Amino acid sequence: MKILVTGGTGYIGSHTCVELIKNKHEVVIVDNLYNSSIAVLDRIEMISGVKPKFYQVDILDREALEAVFKDNKFDACIHFAGYKAVGESCEIPLTYYKNNISGSINLYELMRKYHVDNLVFSSSATVYGDDFEVPFKEEYGLGTTTNPYGSTKKMNEMILTDLAKADKDFSTVLLRYFNPIGAHESGLIGEVPNGIPNNLVPYIAQTASGQRDFLRVWGNDYDTVDGTGVRDYIHVVDLAKAHVLAIEYAYKNKGSEVINIGTGKGYSVLEVLHAYEKACGHEIPYKIMDRRPGDIATCYADTEKASKLLGFKAEYDINKMCEDSYRFTSLNPDGIK
Ligand code: NAD
Ligand code: WQD
Repeated sequence: MKILVTGGTGYIGSHTCVELIKNKHEVVIVDNLYNSSIAVLDRIEMISGVKPKFYQVDILDREALEAVFKDNKFDACIHFAGYKAVGESCEIPLTYYKNNISGSINLYELMRKYHVDNLVFSSSATVYGDDFEVPFKEEYGLGTTTNPYGSTKKMNEMILTDLAKADKDFSTVLLRYFNPIGAHESGLIGEVPNGIPNNLVPYIAQTASGQRDFLRVWGNDYDTVDGTGVRDYIHVVDLAKAHVLAIEYAYKNKGSEVINIGTGKGYSVLEVLHAYEKACGHEIPYKIMDRRPGDIATCYADTEKASKLLGFKAEYDINKMCEDSYRFTSLNPDGIK
């Protein structure tokens, strides 16, 4: 297939491009480089042997995006482009709604106009909110989101589900990612956080390499194995492989499907910290703090649907996730240049 990948130079997008190329798909990337570097294209080429065609285009720029559709006959699209910082979305909600909703609608309208019928969308476990019991199952539907970022994911799910109902040619798979971490084992691509990281593993990585003094552990009084929050961490390469299966599924089946992508197993903050210590070979300082507002105690996926529909099962364990994260951070202290 010839696949348009929006946000393809970003963290999950770049790993997905590598896996798509490995599976003989042709990749065309659209990214405005707001949160990624043009050098990622060379890194993708170093790993896969192919440098994807690239357009530096903002999906909010409808004319520029349409020019990409005029230039290329796509079979499918994987849509990663968007803003993703939960805290920031509470400070500048309109910016988040504009980018993640208006930008996405531009894309979906052009997909319909140019008869690009198959889409995989980056949704998130955040759409479950704190309404349900773990493991989170797709059939629970949409929960009460607690921040504008989460609401943009929920709205995109609603828009795409309605679109697939109204337009019988259109097919979409909405992937609800749990907590993607790790990096490609080459150390060439990985997550480059913007400023002080909010997410656990990027923060641990910077503490392990001495850029931060200590990890602040947000609460140790949850009803979990050791009192710290439990999440379903998934290796980004496993997640990337799930996208290949999902876009091939969308191509063969009409309608819309929501599918969790996680491992089905939860780890506490301290368990992740200790796995990272093993990976980097030294202790990592931490301090227990109050709970972070908006956090839930435990979040992990029911993975049965991914297994049944896509034949997907995550392969890599928490140790491999930490080893690959550490390798990438050590080799790229200043990001991808
Ligand atoms: P990322 O920031 O690394 O990648 C997103 C890419 O989109 C970046 O390269 C950025 O420059 C680009 N982009 C943003 N706005 C754009 C616009 N208007 N036009 C063109 N390009 C634009 O993020 P990621 O971690 O790779 O996440 C990819 C997608 O997955 C996002 O939609 C995110 O919300 C979703 N997601 C991420 C996580 C996570 O923990 N990383 C979890 C669940 C869902
Ligand atoms: C994990 C655990 C924290 C940082 C977020 C988004 C979600 C999705 C993934 C996009 C929690 C604890 C963290 C730190 C800590 N993104 N923690 N000290 O909150 O599960 O999910 O990223 O869709 O939408 O909400 O991930 O990595 O921030 O936190 O103790 O410095 O680590 O309290 O228990 P979260 P996270």
